[in-house]
Amino acid sequence: MNIGVVGATGFVGAEVVRRVLAHRQLTLTAVTSQSTAGKRLADVHPALEGLTDLVLEPFDGAKLSKLDAVVLATPHGAAAPLVAELAGSPLIVDCSRDHRHAEGWTYGMVEYASEALATSSRIAVPGCFATAMALAGAPLVAAGVIEGPARVVAATGSTGSGVKPSAGTHHPTRFANLKAYKVLSHQHVPEVVAFWNTLGDAPKLDFVPISAPIDRGILATLLVTVKPGTHAESIVADFAAKHPHIRLRTGSPELRFVRGTSFCDLSVSQDEDTVAVLSAIDNLGKGAAGQALQCLDLALGLAPSTLTPPALP
Ligand SMILES: NC(=O)c1ccc[n+]([C@@H]2O[C@H](COP(=O)([O-])OP(=O)(O)OC[C@H]3O[C@@H](n4cnc5c(N)ncnc54)[C@H](OP(=O)(O)O)[C@@H]3O)[C@@H](O)[C@H]2O)c1
Repeated sequence: MNIGVVGATGFVGAEVVRRVLAHRQLTLTAVTSQSTAGKRLADVHPALEGLTDLVLEPFDGAKLSKLDAVVLATPHGAAAPLVAELAGSPLIVDCSRDHRHAEGWTYGMVEYASEALATSSRIAVPGCFATAMALAGAPLVAAGVIEGPARVVAATGSTGSGVKPSAGTHHPTRFANLKAYKVLSHQHVPEVVAFWNTLGDAPKLDFVPISAPIDRGILATLLVTVKPGTHAESIVADFAAKHPHIRLRTGSPELRFVRGTSFCDLSVSQDEDTVAVLSAIDNLGKGAAGQALQCLDLALGLAPSTLTPPALP
């Protein structure tokens, strides 16, 4: 199966490339770039030296549409016009926010969409914070046990801001610092609430994102009040038991155990009717490229092969 990656010079694009190159049933056939067309991909991402000789090409919708699938790893707002030029493509997987919960697109939260994904030709990969938060709350929302709002505080790494250097990712200001941003106004809140509403009555979601001095990973803490008699851990354990990329941990999940993988690690603590669900993902793994590859596997009818190697111990 031939795959093209648009935006291959970015962080998500590179992670998609890495996973496609390692996939036994997929062949990386085309990589595109606006800024560095004509350069070897391995010159832009030296870690790929010896693994691919592909040269970055300018975007060509007609040519890419002949491939079995195209993955878009472009910034918010850039994907929609590209999709118009990919009208003949049998399968588009968009990692940006342009088509999430959009008409004609499957929202690729893999654990809840495997049937729909198997027959989808247009897939929107959920956001990184959205994936971490949504999976933390989803089993409880689906069980209808939450009373009142859900509150989430989550820390993320600097790759979440993309490959272009910015004040927020500049090493001297980031490395020894913690700070909140977009407090109660992050764009992933409506995305998560819309997804939860497909499972049950979504609680109001209050979210405080934290910018952490790490390069990749998200650790989210979701706090909810549950109905009397609820045993939250058994609800989440049932969910984890059905899905190989969800792992129930005792104590706290840790970023180092999900780094580079497509896992979402969860843990549950409960004190009477107060429940804390912790959720750890790699923002570039389960939060983007890992989930994109899971979507690709399902949509192309391939055996799920993205049970990624474990993170380094
Ligand atoms: N980073 C994360 O943790 C994360 C997680 C989940 C989802 N996402 C989403 O995934 C997408 C990619 O994120 P990223 O972090 O990889 O961003 P990034 O590092 O900034 O990379 C995006 C790439 O897209 C290309 N590009 C820029 N403008 C373009 C345009 N108008 N048309 C075509 N290509 C264009 C750029 O490459 P050239 O200049 O070489 O063309 C750039 O390298 C974004 O929509 C982001 O919101 C990111």
